[in-house]
Amino acid sequence: MSEASLSRRAAMATLATGAFGLAAAGGGMLALASPAEAQKRGRAASPGTAIQAAIEEAYGRYRTLQEGKNADYIPALAEVSSAFFGIAVAGKEAKVYEVGDSKELFSIQSISKVFTAALVMQESGDSKIEDSVGVDATGQVFNSINAVEQYRGKEMNPFVNPGAIATVGNVKGSSPDEIWAKILQIHSDFAGRQLEVNQPVYKSESDTNHRNRAISALMSAYERFPMDPVVAVDLYTRQCSINVSAHDLAVMGATLAFGGKNPVTGKQVIDRSHVPGLLAIMATAGMYDDSGKWLFRTGLPTKSGVGGGLVAVAPGKFGIGTFAPPLDGAGNSVRGQRAITDIVRALNANPYAQTG
Ligand code: DON
Repeated sequence: MSEASLSRRAAMATLATGAFGLAAAGGGMLALASPAEAQKRGRAASPGTAIQAAIEEAYGRYRTLQEGKNADYIPALAEVSSAFFGIAVAGKEAKVYEVGDSKELFSIQSISKVFTAALVMQESGDSKIEDSVGVDATGQVFNSINAVEQYRGKEMNPFVNPGAIATVGNVKGSSPDEIWAKILQIHSDFAGRQLEVNQPVYKSESDTNHRNRAISALMSAYERFPMDPVVAVDLYTRQCSINVSAHDLAVMGATLAFGGKNPVTGKQVIDRSHVPGLLAIMATAGMYDDSGKWLFRTGLPTKSGVGGGLVAVAPGKFGIGTFAPPLDGAGNSVRGQRAITDIVRALNANPYAQTG
């Protein structure tokens, strides 16, 4: 997607959707009482009941909401049904609460950037990301070439495409196969199961990713990573094509929520010390141009992908994963954002709202 075409998309999406947060369409039967309803009836909701009620309520409210549009600059993403909608929440006690299409597989896209950054931090220390890639929001679209030129490949962050390709280019290994095995493994460890690549999406993006190839070459020219730029962009494209579900994303988010330890498998995936830095980058750059708005509304470090996924982290509480392909103008899932915003409110999960 070019910078110009992204702006066109943004304008179209604004026309189509109006301002975020104004409309709440759709209805739906709730299987369980919301926490407020349960309290009204004179009994306290257990934490599990409250979570299940909150996700079912959000699911019912937004299930039929038709706003936004699937990404289509990767042709295979335009073919995914816009109707899919799944929500999952994973807490400390290894239980995943879920509703809707929470087991449906889709390509992780930019959400993968979090986990490859985690790998580089684990292998080479947080300073590798800070010094080689940067940790500042660029204020420009995720595939901006202007941003690379402006900062001569520095002062980016691992969640915009130039920074993400440079992050892949900094994974240690003596061959592309060895590096790929590590990238896939860390994603699988975060999810708690062996993940696989969505081959049609990988092929579709590989056939059309001329802009990312240019970005990779430019970042290499600025000596931001030691890998062959053609290899780096191919590994990056493969990682974006890893299949996950909302259920997987909830577990991946919960692994970050609990200090890098997967609550389902019990595996310490990365050292606890890397988590605050990762969450900080998710908070400032995880939702691209709308990161500030998103933090204002929810307080949760979150990462989006153009496949329609979102992963949000409530530190010490839970991870939330959602899947709903239609995106807003910033490239973030419309129904996923609505659902998470409501769930955070219902469960009082905004970290900035905790008064001790
Ligand atoms: O490189 C790309 O354009 C895609 N593979 C990933 C972009 C993406 O997911 C941006 N997210 N909101």
